[in-house]
Amino acid sequence: MRRKLFVTLLLLLATAVSAFERQPNADYRARRQRLAAQLGNGVLVLFAPTEAEGQNATSGFRQNEDFYYLTGWREPGAALLVAPKPYTEILFLPAHNASQERWTGPKLGAESPDARKQTGFDHIDVLDHLRDELVRVLPSPQATVYSDISDSGATASTIPLAWLRRANAFPNYTSMRDVSSIVGALRLSKDGGEIAFIRKATDASVEAHKAAMRAAKPGMTENELAALMRYEFEKRGCEVPAYAPIVGSGYNSTVLHYSENSGTLAAGDLVVLDVAGEYSYYASDITRTLPVNGKFTPRQREIYDIVLGAQRAAIDAFKAGSSTIGRTSESSLYKVAYDYINTHGKDAHGQPLGQYFIHGLSHYVGLEVHDSGDTAKPLEPGAVFTIEPGIYIPEERLGVRIEDIFMVGVGGTLVELSAGLPKTAEDVENAMK
Ligand code: GLY
Repeated sequence: MRRKLFVTLLLLLATAVSAFERQPNADYRARRQRLAAQLGNGVLVLFAPTEAEGQNATSGFRQNEDFYYLTGWREPGAALLVAPKPYTEILFLPAHNASQERWTGPKLGAESPDARKQTGFDHIDVLDHLRDELVRVLPSPQATVYSDISDSGATASTIPLAWLRRANAFPNYTSMRDVSSIVGALRLSKDGGEIAFIRKATDASVEAHKAAMRAAKPGMTENELAALMRYEFEKRGCEVPAYAPIVGSGYNSTVLHYSENSGTLAAGDLVVLDVAGEYSYYASDITRTLPVNGKFTPRQREIYDIVLGAQRAAIDAFKAGSSTIGRTSESSLYKVAYDYINTHGKDAHGQPLGQYFIHGLSHYVGLEVHDSGDTAKPLEPGAVFTIEPGIYIPEERLGVRIEDIFMVGVGGTLVELSAGLPKTAEDVENAMK
C-alpha cells in the first residue's frame, strides 16, 4: 500500500512543469524518421548516460547531445531503439529506484499513463526489455547496429553494448557502426524550434554584454565582470554558460582560451569578453573587446578596425550554397578574413598582421558551442555559425576578437542573430559612457 502511494506521488510529481523549454514532440519524431531513412538495413541503439556518467560538478546531469537531439529526453539512463523497416521506435526508461529517487527526484516510468504524451513516443518500455525488442527487430541474414561508438574512448553506450553482446543480442552476422556522423549531418541544419532557442540564448547574452559595457572600469577584476555577465544571462532564462567564460584583460587578451579570469582591469588595457549563455541546451557564442577606461588608444583603435573590417569582408563575401567555414576550400570565409588582416596594418617590425590571426574564423553552434558538422560543406539554410576574426599581439599586450553568431535563413540570406550588440569602436565607446 505504501509502495502504491509512493508510486502515485512519483507520477504526480513527474508531470510537474520543467523550466527548460522543449520543442513539440513531433519535431523530435521527425528527426528520428529522417535518421531511420538513412539506416538502410540497420537499427539504431543509443544509450543515454547514467546519472553518474552525465554529472557535471557545477551544473548537474546533462543529457548526451545526440540522444537529446533525437528524443528531447533529458533524464539519465534511458535508451532509444529505432528500426526503419517496418518503422519502429521505442524509448526505454529505467525502472523506478525508490532509494535513488530520494536523491534525484521523481522520474517518469514506462508504466505512467502520461508517458506517451510527455515523450512523444507511441511505444515506451522498461529498460529491462531492450534485449528482447532488439532481437525481435534485428534484420537477418545481415544486420548493422548503429550506436555511439567512438574511437576515442568509452561512451555512454560502451558498457550496455558489451553487456548485450555477452547476452547474445547480436547474431554473428551483425556489424557495428558509429552513428555520430549521420546524426551530426542532421544536426547541421537547425529547424525553427532550435533557432528559437539559439535566439533566446543570444538575446540574453547580448544583454549580458551590454551590462558589461556599462560596468567595466579600471580596478574591477576579470572574474567580477564574468560573474556579472553570468547573472545577466541567467536571469533572462539561460541555465548555464555555454562555455567557460573568457574575460581577459591586458596580456590576457592575447590568450585564446584564457578562462582563469583572475586579473584586474587596468586603465589603458583592452579586455576581451568571450561570454555567452545556453538556453534549453542551445548555445550562443559572442565576443566583444572593450577599452577598460572607455576609450580606445589610436593603436588599439587601428587594430580593432582591422578586425571589424575582416568580419565585414567575410560577411560581404558570404554566398549560400558555396561559402564554407573550413580553412581549406576555395570559397572559405576564413581565407577572406585572413587576406583582409594580412593586407591591413603592420606589427612593430613592419610585418603583416596575418601571423597574429591564430585561430579559425568560424565554428557551427547548436547543442554544443562547437557543434558537429562538416566544415568543408557549403553553408545552406539552417546552418548556425560564428564569424570571429581576431588579432593577438602579445608583445603589445593587445588582443582583439569580435565574434557574432549568424544563421543562414530561408532563401540563403545571412542573418546576424547578435545584431543588437554595439560593435563599431565608436558604438562600443558610447555604450561604455
Ligand atoms: N567562444 C568560445 C569557444 O569558441 O570555445
